[in-house]
Amino acid sequence: MNEIERIIELRKQLHQHNYNYYVLSAPTISDKEFDMSLKELQELEEKHPEMFDANSPTQRVGSDLNEEFQTVAHIRPMLSLANTYNIEEVRDFYQRVSDALHGQPFQVCAELKYDGLSISLHYHNGELRQAVTRGDGVQGDDVTANVRTIRSIPLVLNSDIIDIPEDFEIRGEILMPWSSFERLNKEREQNGEDLFANPRNAASGTLKSKNPKVVSQRGLDAYLYFLLGDDIPNEGHYENMNIARSWGFQVSRDMQLCNTLDELWEYITYWDTHRKELPVATDGIVIKVNSIAQQKALGMTAKSPRWAIAYKFQAEQASTILREVTFQVGRTGVVTPVANMDSVQLSGTMVHRATLHNADILASLDLHIGDRVLVEKGGEIIPKIVGKDDNFAQTNGTGSPIQFIQRCPVCGTALIRGEEEASHYCPNDLHCTPQIIGRLEHFVSRKAMNINLVGPELIQQYHRQGLLNDIADFYSITHDKKIADSIAQSTQVPFERVLFALGIRFVGEIAAKTLARKFKSIDNIMSATAEELLEVDGIGKVIAESVINYFASAENRTLIERLKNVGIQFTLSEEVLAAQSDTLSGQSIVISGVFTHHSRDEYKRIIEQHGGKNVGSISAKTSFILAGDNMGPAKLEKAQKLGVRIVSEEEFLGMIQ
Ligand code: IVH
Repeated sequence: MNEIERIIELRKQLHQHNYNYYVLSAPTISDKEFDMSLKELQELEEKHPEMFDANSPTQRVGSDLNEEFQTVAHIRPMLSLANTYNIEEVRDFYQRVSDALHGQPFQVCAELKYDGLSISLHYHNGELRQAVTRGDGVQGDDVTANVRTIRSIPLVLNSDIIDIPEDFEIRGEILMPWSSFERLNKEREQNGEDLFANPRNAASGTLKSKNPKVVSQRGLDAYLYFLLGDDIPNEGHYENMNIARSWGFQVSRDMQLCNTLDELWEYITYWDTHRKELPVATDGIVIKVNSIAQQKALGMTAKSPRWAIAYKFQAEQASTILREVTFQVGRTGVVTPVANMDSVQLSGTMVHRATLHNADILASLDLHIGDRVLVEKGGEIIPKIVGKDDNFAQTNGTGSPIQFIQRCPVCGTALIRGEEEASHYCPNDLHCTPQIIGRLEHFVSRKAMNINLVGPELIQQYHRQGLLNDIADFYSITHDKKIADSIAQSTQVPFERVLFALGIRFVGEIAAKTLARKFKSIDNIMSATAEELLEVDGIGKVIAESVINYFASAENRTLIERLKNVGIQFTLSEEVLAAQSDTLSGQSIVISGVFTHHSRDEYKRIIEQHGGKNVGSISAKTSFILAGDNMGPAKLEKAQKLGVRIVSEEEFLGMIQ
């Protein structure tokens, strides 16, 4: 056997061992033997660069090259599923299916709903060609280089199997198993990095990493659940997935065919408890009509198929004792009640603090110190208290119900609650320490002035030393040359970001951009009346009032003066001004399909720059649809029905020159 033949043989063997190990969890050789074969292959490939193959087992480690993602169109749109939350809604689904099938009998396939991010894998001649994220369902990011590093995804299918279609797509979920998630967060904690809130965020952050080598080390996994193509082997979804497993894909063994609603409900109740034993996160059950012919007959709505539905599990709850309620003051002065509780295990992490949101929610919970409470993590980052644990009525706490505070816990100022607002806030914005610190931190943050040499600790230190009391003080810091330079650089930050950096209540990134573009300078904004502000699309009463209040303060106006004096950008740059026009003023434009000259996001920006408004769905008010290739059939139909004009990419570019 010559070296070339050996390369081919080793690749085939290693693909099989990889499958045995990562998919079957049944390795037939030792790790050491595996490593030795891999090393041999690596050496041979180095000697024979002409044999390079992106799907070789040696490529699993990923390259350090920076990958920019291309946006690509899905061959078939990636739909989502309608959700149900109880047996009645599942029964309704059954009934709808039965009616639509004119009483024909049907089977459903029940399977776990994996809580990760969906991916579409395209195979051609038994090899992985392309992996694309869901994106907006019509187009997604090409993340093939990253996906190649996921060991349970086969790069090359076993060529001894003869029934593999030449071309097919298989969809599934990319996940970070609990074990990898915990390891990763531990590492990040040690490095002082932000922790991922849950495995889904961690998986998504990882898959979007521009560095495949990082991805390769993060221990991602994948389950496949949907096979598509012109030559699909079987008439049943369940059967197809079993066949796909034999081709080398990791397909869940926990799928089950059900003939009745009772069988299905039994499956659901079983997995509601047993899912906690699974190595990955799940958030429900997916129910699919099994016959592909029946699926076709049922068809789909604009958003989701009529032949499938998701049943979502109740969020996991834990019971613990409430010890104290503290009140936190945020950057904009909003005061949030926080419950401090005995630590308890919840969805895989230890929890001892939970948000109580605001005064109304606090009051409705009627809490006492010592109460036994139920905490819930709705797949979300911050746990919340949902109520008292009624199973433990005898362990109720003592004293009077916990009340919202009247005065700021830090500076003692009487709190205010806006007319239509849920939250209380401390109006002493200029002299209340957490607000000062919060504003300073916000000012230097990445999306604001992006002064990356100055972090929270340095801000605290400077504030303690009396060097930093407001954002203009940054520009008087001179003792450290490097830091002073990085601060000085921020005078180049464009006006729209400066406006956001000021930290005016309710003026987020988007509102700042809108105001900057409309009024073009800080002076114009400062002299605008509430009516003028309200005329701007996207600026409502709350924002307008807040802007007026901000500039009504003499202290804030002095602050702006001082910032002007150090050269901060307070007018729209020439470039932005030049790119602006009113060509599309007053027009509501829907973007649909796949484009060649600009990305969707760019078109969105272009529309805004020319005074138009990008809207999500077609209605009689839509001025026109900017349509690329592969515009969805449902949208097209709706547009025709409503007589909305369809404008091609070229035509549109012509309109705005
Ligand atoms: S089937 C048209 N099966 O849930 C069929 N989806 O809300 C669509 N998901 O976007 C997908 N586990 O990311 C299907 N066993 C499963 C699933 C599953 C998780 C995700 C998927 C999808 C979302 C639907």
